[in-house]
Amino acid sequence: MFEKCCDKCSHSPDSPCPDLIACIQDGPLCHTDERCNDFIHQRVERLKRKNIETPVIFVGTATCGLGAGAEKTITEIEKWLSESKTSADIVRVGCLGICALEPLVDVQLPKKSRISFYSVTAEKVRDILPAVFDGKPPVEHVLGQYPQEDTEAWKNIPLIGDHPFFKHQKRWVLENCGIINPEDIDEYIVWGGYSSLSRVLKNMTPLEVADVVEDSGLRGRGGAGFPAGKKWKFAQQAEGDQRYMICNADEGDPGAFMDRAVIEGDPHRLVEGIIIAAYAIHADHAYIYIRAEYPLAIRRLEKAIDQAHELGLLGRNILDSGFSLDIKLKKGAGAFVCGEETALIASIEGKRGMPRPRPPFPAVSGLYGKPTIINNVETLANVPGIIKNGADWFSSVGTERSKGTKVFALSGNVVRTGLVEVPMGITLRQIVFDIGGGIEGGLAFKAAQIGGPSGGCIPVEHLDTEIDYESLKEIGAIVGSGGLVVMDENTCMVDVAKFFMDFIQKESCGKCIPCREGTRLMLEILTSLTKRRSHETMEETFTRFQGVIQLKRLAEVIQDASLCALGQTAPNPVLSTMRWFKDEYEAHVYERYCPAGACTELLNYYIDSEKCKGCGLCAKNCPSDAIMGAPKSPHYIVPDKCIGCGTCVETCKFDAIVISRQDVPTEGVANA
Ligand SMILES: Cc1cc2nc3c(=O)[nH]c(=O)nc-3n(C[C@H](O)[C@H](O)[C@H](O)COP(=O)(O)O)c2cc1C
Ligand code: SF4
Ligand code: SF4
Ligand code: SF4
Repeated sequence: MFEKCCDKCSHSPDSPCPDLIACIQDGPLCHTDERCNDFIHQRVERLKRKNIETPVIFVGTATCGLGAGAEKTITEIEKWLSESKTSADIVRVGCLGICALEPLVDVQLPKKSRISFYSVTAEKVRDILPAVFDGKPPVEHVLGQYPQEDTEAWKNIPLIGDHPFFKHQKRWVLENCGIINPEDIDEYIVWGGYSSLSRVLKNMTPLEVADVVEDSGLRGRGGAGFPAGKKWKFAQQAEGDQRYMICNADEGDPGAFMDRAVIEGDPHRLVEGIIIAAYAIHADHAYIYIRAEYPLAIRRLEKAIDQAHELGLLGRNILDSGFSLDIKLKKGAGAFVCGEETALIASIEGKRGMPRPRPPFPAVSGLYGKPTIINNVETLANVPGIIKNGADWFSSVGTERSKGTKVFALSGNVVRTGLVEVPMGITLRQIVFDIGGGIEGGLAFKAAQIGGPSGGCIPVEHLDTEIDYESLKEIGAIVGSGGLVVMDENTCMVDVAKFFMDFIQKESCGKCIPCREGTRLMLEILTSLTKRRSHETMEETFTRFQGVIQLKRLAEVIQDASLCALGQTAPNPVLSTMRWFKDEYEAHVYERYCPAGACTELLNYYIDSEKCKGCGLCAKNCPSDAIMGAPKSPHYIVPDKCIGCGTCVETCKFDAIVISRQDVPTEGVANA
């Protein structure tokens, strides 16, 4: 925590200085003294790691880094440092975004630029570190180097910003992620942090803050895309002496992890955004609703909140402005519906997390019946940048009605999975191919599922659609919270729709019948399309056909008659896959055939008599006794008994089981 430059400074969190942040960044301000000036200047240089004397090793330790083995990498680095009697500081940072290449290890040697290495597992530490410390970084492990003032660039090492993954991005919210130590408020401040808060408290009225945010065009990043400044103004106009600010960090969408990454990589940006938002809406209490499955994010947030308190940036009379705020964490149990704002409020109040009808909207009657504003993590993390750089800066990027950047969690069958922050208006093709490096294994792109369970699939013919709130709506998808799952030619779109429907029907809170029963019925219909037809009675066939015909009608009823957006948007993945992949549905319905070959029950299994050794292992493991045969002679599968589980394929050591999307051939086959 910051030390004073000398005893002349009389300020402390109990007697706050309105200029604390400016003083830390450029001080001293309250007196002129060369020694204090030098002290502060050197402190800033040290925290910015300019002119370092001891080498620094940065290791990405967000959830993705830890999952890839970053802890083991750190242990090995420590071992190597001690064995080779080399001194270096190890700093744990968040995720740079390129999760596919974790663990990331950056090395900064005195007078040299920071250089980043990828996939540094424990085994690779000794291939890389000795060489770098010897002045010869192994290029085959290099991601890139950072341009840095007052340091010498490495020769023949590309700049990290020229890497295709980063070249097309605009990292505003993720600016510090993977770069600074997320557990050190001092680092955040010397890089400009909390200066927006300082400016707001000193020079701006709550209305002016809301005006800037409204003028910037910032729309909520939690899904619905409602203008943030406008929402804050509703709370300003609401009656009541007590108001609440809530940050929604529930992040329940499958495939979404951007809020977690922001918190793990730069928690102070969020804390600063929350304080500014609370000031704008006259709230003196704020909550962060975060799922308990995010332990690292919770730990880093708790630390950030404690540090902000210690420095007087939270608590009573922040920066001598008269404004006071406390932030509390509320850990949610991880139910998707608790991300819905009225359910979230109920959950904070200690009740069961179930949505209630709106109006009244939370801005009028929210937590404990008081005016309450709920904003998403990314929305709030955008606020410090908007205040610092102005509304025009933010709105200069994006499309006519969707401004700024958006963070997407890129996953699925794409080469470079991770977090990408891109200007609104970028095309899907640019994200998938230029940034993500295209489809894994050289396969063809089939679709991208965007917006989570409320979203839709974008087919190949719309790869050049500019991504913004309006254009995605036109093609039946949404920006949503930013989950972007890329799918290759081997993906079955009926199966995708089934996955989301399965998720939704499990997560429905059950309050209203159309959502509770309708989603269950939709799932049943989709499941029937991927089931084997053997033993199907005429009546069952008829019901299956009827179900498919009813699918659209059912979707409309669920959309119209559900209470909250979970139910209202539940049919979206089904409708969008039906719209763009009609042929695939027809193949499942009429031909009992899965063109992608993904629905295992629709595949035909047979045994190649040439390859079968008659070992009997498959027959032993087949759960439906569908495999027959005498020992040491070719076995065969009884098609009517086979349930298409695929166990025999995994069991046979001689590759004798053949899977076919077409009917079983009759020649050269051991079959019934
Ligand atoms: C079922 C359901 C789940 C939701 N989950 C989240 C979530 O995890 N995070 C989030 O920020 N918003 C979520 N939302 C949207 C929130 O209700 C709310 O609109 C949002 O937090 C407002 O913040 P914003 O205006 O900054 O986007 C969800 C909505 C629904 C209907
Ligand atoms: S729509 Fe579904 S999740 Fe929403 S209140 Fe009704 S039953 Fe619950
Ligand atoms: S198919 Fe394979 S596992 Fe089955 S009997 Fe023949 S060789 Fe053995
Ligand atoms: S796919 Fe499953 S049910 Fe069919 S033969 Fe193989 S093990 Fe038996």
